[in-house]
Amino acid sequence: MGSRLVGYGSYLPEHIMTNQDFERLMDTTDEWITSRTGIKTRHFARDDETVVDMATIAAQRALDNAKLTINDIDLIMVATTTPELDFPSVGVQVSGRLGAKNNLPAFDLRGACTGYIYALHCARGFFTAGMHQRIMIIGAEKMTRFIDMSDRSTAVLFGDGAGALIFEHSSSGYSGIIDTVVMADGNEFECLHGTPDHRIAMNGPETYKKAVQCMPDAARYIMKHAGITAENIDWIIPHQANLRIIHSCAAHLAFPMDKILITVDQHANTSGASGVLALAYALDNDIIQHGQLILYPAFGSGLTWGAALIRI
Ligand code: ACO
Repeated sequence: MGSRLVGYGSYLPEHIMTNQDFERLMDTTDEWITSRTGIKTRHFARDDETVVDMATIAAQRALDNAKLTINDIDLIMVATTTPELDFPSVGVQVSGRLGAKNNLPAFDLRGACTGYIYALHCARGFFTAGMHQRIMIIGAEKMTRFIDMSDRSTAVLFGDGAGALIFEHSSSGYSGIIDTVVMADGNEFECLHGTPDHRIAMNGPETYKKAVQCMPDAARYIMKHAGITAENIDWIIPHQANLRIIHSCAAHLAFPMDKILITVDQHANTSGASGVLALAYALDNDIIQHGQLILYPAFGSGLTWGAALIRI
């Protein structure tokens, strides 16, 4: 038993923040940001725009894309670490905004930048167990809630946005979410975490080292587990944190850069929304075609990491 992708949607806030905008606000340069991260622009939500607002728009777009209504969905999972409210979950707020009438279960999960892989992992398990027919996975973050404009080493790295994917139960095990792996090491908590006063505490070089080790490890694990090699993969969509991390992962896996999807230049790091937004971007722009096999590695605070194998 497996699944298939039946719809997707995304939302990026209207305001685009460029590296030149940062030059005016702090002691930084476009050259430093571009050479260290590959980031050129990112979208910043309005002060009054919430994770729920962004997630709801992405979810409605995914429903429209799938020609479904919210009452056709039987589970919502939201990967987010930046909700405005501690409770209830973003998921139930989205279902309420969309007028769900089917007692739709919904919950959030906090896997930081690996959150959407954790959600795909849960969805695979639920489909395999025959527990759900149609699952909506949303990745939504308002990273600007955590951006401290007095810290140039983290402020330039992040952006806001939301993406949504709808998977449907299928009798084929060769489409949709084919395989997943998730891992975490809480001993490395100090590398990267949020602070109680909503700032980002990050040891950049240490985070970098772990990312370029863990993402290729997860990619290799899943290829071995699924019995495939890099030649079988059409695209890698890595977590979009930093172009140098992505280049290094590609080199570790001996995978050509022209088969690696890059959106970090436009979106920066949107944490739990990153991979979902990137997949939606690739589908919107006809970069990824129906039937292609995607390897989806991610890494983030926790430390958490993992990978998914998806056939579109
Ligand atoms: N503009 C100009 N200078 C800066 C900036 C900036 N925005 N930020 C930091 N610097 C300065 C520092 O103050 C430091 O100056 P100093 O040497 O005088 O003390 C210097 O730049 C550090 O430079 P480098 O050592 O060359 O920086 P590095 O190459 O380590 O790059 C970076 C820093 C980009 C943060 C890198 O460590 C990195 O990419 N780490 C991973 C971080 C990441 O992606 N986190 C996201 C979350 S995790 C995830 O999603 C995978």
